[in-house]
Amino acid sequence: MRVLFFGDIVGRPGRTALYSWLPVLRRRYRPDFVLGNAENAAGGTGLVPEVAEELFDRGLDAMTLGNHAWVKREIEPYLEHERRVLRPLNLPGSPPGCGSVVLEREGAGSLAVMLLHGRVFFPTHPDDPFRAGAAEAGRLRASTPAIIVDFHAEATSEKAAMGWYLDGKVSAVLGTHTHVQTADERVLPGGTAYVTDLGMTGPYDSVIGVKVNLAIERFLTQLPVRFAPATGPTQVAGAFVNIDPSTGKALEIERFLHRGDPSG
Ligand SMILES: [Fe+2]
Ligand SMILES: [Fe+2]
Repeated sequence: MRVLFFGDIVGRPGRTALYSWLPVLRRRYRPDFVLGNAENAAGGTGLVPEVAEELFDRGLDAMTLGNHAWVKREIEPYLEHERRVLRPLNLPGSPPGCGSVVLEREGAGSLAVMLLHGRVFFPTHPDDPFRAGAAEAGRLRASTPAIIVDFHAEATSEKAAMGWYLDGKVSAVLGTHTHVQTADERVLPGGTAYVTDLGMTGPYDSVIGVKVNLAIERFLTQLPVRFAPATGPTQVAGAFVNIDPSTGKALEIERFLHRGDPSG
């Protein structure tokens, strides 16, 4: 079972880069499922139903959110019925939406996708992602052993610990949120593919997707500067994971990062 997962898709530049590269990457990796983190896909922060629909139309099979899930509140009613857009699983109370979904593809089988939210260096206080993730993996295994976890977290240590904690319980733990791709992809001994961060699909002359001058101004003034996605050249970033559908173990993980236009 072949899965392509794109790191944080930032605004229109990220979506445009995704659409231009996806046909090329489909030829290269022949994915059964295409996934992406879309928490910043609308205007550089949050997601709205129209943008989610556009991403589905252009080839995503499911998408994950993150700490910016609720920035644009119009997504809330959409999450009630669109199970293929995931909010973090480990949130207190019962916010709208789901933290996991099982996707079906004829000929490929079933793939479960789960989104967990880290606790280190966030102003909010989600529930324990470790115990929540392991418990959910146990439930999902009744449907399929092929389980992809997006761990949306800031600290590399928390992400690495999650990879080892879920090793052998899920097919992959793929980090998102920092927008900076890490070069530590591997398959852990229990058969779980791991990378600390998939990186960003978006404008690369930027501060993690944001216009450079705006990001610097916030640091210099400490005032609440309104951010906007940068323009200019773009990149796509993510990973390809190949999973044995009978065991759920990852056979390989390959990271990708392409800058500019596929034709140029
Ligand atoms: Fe995030
Ligand atoms: Fe993000």
